[in-house]
Amino acid sequence: MNYEPPAIYGIIGNPVSHSLSPVMHNAAFKALKVNAVYKLFPLEDTQELKLFMEDLKEEDNPIFGLNVTVPYKEDVLAFLDSVDPLADKIGAVNTLVIDHQRKIRGFNTDGPGFISHLAELKCDLKDKRVALLGAGGTARAIISVLCLLPQGPERIALYNRTRCNADILLKDIGQKIAVDRVEVVDEVEDLNVELADILINTTSVGLRNADDILVDPEALHKDMLVYDVIYNPAETELLAQARRKGAQVSNGLGMLFYQGALAFGHWADMELDEKTKKIMRKSLEVASVHGS
Ligand SMILES: NC(=O)c1ccc[n+]([C@@H]2O[C@H](COP(=O)([O-])OP(=O)(O)OC[C@H]3O[C@@H](n4cnc5c(N)ncnc54)[C@H](OP(=O)(O)O)[C@@H]3O)[C@@H](O)[C@H]2O)c1
Repeated sequence: MNYEPPAIYGIIGNPVSHSLSPVMHNAAFKALKVNAVYKLFPLEDTQELKLFMEDLKEEDNPIFGLNVTVPYKEDVLAFLDSVDPLADKIGAVNTLVIDHQRKIRGFNTDGPGFISHLAELKCDLKDKRVALLGAGGTARAIISVLCLLPQGPERIALYNRTRCNADILLKDIGQKIAVDRVEVVDEVEDLNVELADILINTTSVGLRNADDILVDPEALHKDMLVYDVIYNPAETELLAQARRKGAQVSNGLGMLFYQGALAFGHWADMELDEKTKKIMRKSLEVASVHGS
């Protein structure tokens, strides 16, 4: 009997146990009848990352594609043979393609995934005022793509609990991208949410149901989009308050889907067909409600 071992794909990070990516990608492999499996690869620290990345170069390694999540999206850059120009500008990768010569190429699909989801939400960013919470890895990707848009927001006000992290992030992004429309503010009130067209939460505040919200709920209004990158819980307290105020609201499940579909496209070197994308999205929606 002929048995061809499956090609391996997966996600590296710490932690990865909560990830919905296996559900989405394994659903796509099944739909496309591809002999491949997507696995979780928890890596304890940068030493484990180094060993894993060195092993990836071995000729008989069956891994051909990876997602990268916190805290390694920047660390992993040191191990790549080449970096896609957008990922290079953003300064972080979340997708790796390993070819048959075991050359590793890095991409960033978080930023484009976010923009694709905003487009689906019919959110026109041109000349809009954006208020953004957080200065971590997700903020890096989102700020970068917002600043790169040819018809992007007029202003992005950025608030982070630890102000210096926001300053460092902006300085870093600013090395490769014009960030003059971004302003770091000292206090959350200085975001002027009541005047914003779009409020984006990229912090982890809201992950726990008991979490409060960072902005004054009274500042939320019906003429804005409130976007929370968190997708579990499906409705954070921020989104619940914004919905009550009549705002358009969205969680980050769409962003997760689009970044995944784009990553899969890099692995397969093609754009996924609509039917497979629908299967991926449905699998995510089911898993996010019922748990994977
Ligand atoms: N939808 C998607 O596709 C998608 C993709 C990636 C991530 N995410 C979600 O995005 C969130 C952030 O991920 P990340 O990778 O950007 O994390 P990260 O790099 O660790 O950054 C976390 C951010 O949250 C802030 N923060 C944490 N606890 C806070 C608190 N109690 N009060 C105020 N600010 C607080 C941090 O501020 P300090 O600088 O002060 O510490 C920092 O700005 C997570 O919930 C993650 O699940 C969603």
